[in-house]
Amino acid sequence: MAKTVVALVVVAGAWFGQAPAPASLDYEMFKTKVQPIFLAKRAGHARCISCHSSGTPLRLEPLPSGSITWNEEQSRKNFEAVKRVVVPGSLKSRLLVHPLAEQAGGDFFHNGGKHWDSQNDPEWQTLKAWVLGNSRS
Ligand code: HEC
Repeated sequence: MAKTVVALVVVAGAWFGQAPAPASLDYEMFKTKVQPIFLAKRAGHARCISCHSSGTPLRLEPLPSGSITWNEEQSRKNFEAVKRVVVPGSLKSRLLVHPLAEQAGGDFFHNGGKHWDSQNDPEWQTLKAWVLGNSRS
């Protein structure tokens, strides 16, 4: 009996070992490619950071006055905050569908507006690559 259990565990281990690794979110890519999107100004819209450093469920670190980006510690906190609106590997992640126009595949409403009209937008493509775990594309 004990032998059977051991054998089963070994087999299960081999089986799971072969499964493809789940998509994982790359911190370096987040820091260097994704965060600048939260700071960029788009015509007709407030910057993501203008709203998302207070009052909204997605809470980014406030940008200290005078600095143009976040430091390491703040970037780590942002990473944790943004992870909450991302399902690694899923194009249905709120980060992707919420600021995307409904006719382009986004969801119905984002209080902060629809910042991208097309999935071809380079900024949206960057978010997508990050969510899918394609950090080298
Ligand atoms: C004018 C203010 C404003 C701006 C600018 C804004 N947002 Fe929002 N956002 C909100 C508010 C308010 C909510 C909560 C209500 C809702 O879901 O619409 C929200 C919700 C979200 C959510 C869902 C959060 C959750 O916990 O479910 C995501 C993701 C998001 N915003 C991403 C962005 C991104 C990315 C940008 C920049 C491209 C952006 N927002 C710009 C106000 C804003």
